[in-house]
Amino acid sequence: MPTITVNEQAFSCESGTNLRDFLLSQKVKLYNGKAATINCHGHGTCGACAVAIEGVASEPTTVEKIRLNLPPHKGIESGRRLACQVKVLGDIKVTKYDGFWGEGEVPVTMIQAASASA
Ligand code: FES
Repeated sequence: MPTITVNEQAFSCESGTNLRDFLLSQKVKLYNGKAATINCHGHGTCGACAVAIEGVASEPTTVEKIRLNLPPHKGIESGRRLACQVKVLGDIKVTKYDGFWGEGEVPVTMIQAASASA
């Protein structure tokens, strides 16, 4: 079972798990600010679920590449991924950055003390 690490907290999931769905099910704060309510609910069009991923995940989808090539994102080569388009295929580390779409350069905390789980 792959392990997803977020802010030093580890979660186990099935291989092929959708990253957005899994993080939300674990009450991990995937979205910044009002993006938690103003988002495309996983269709890959808003870009607000952008995160940096280190580890083994599915290849970027076509819609993901298109959205990440539109501002304020800086392209797929920036290393950001859209969590709603990512399937977890092995151990990964997830980092969220600041900015409405997660397009910033300053890492933010995704785990809230009351919702943290192992
Ligand atoms: S939720 Fe909108 S792009 Fe992922």
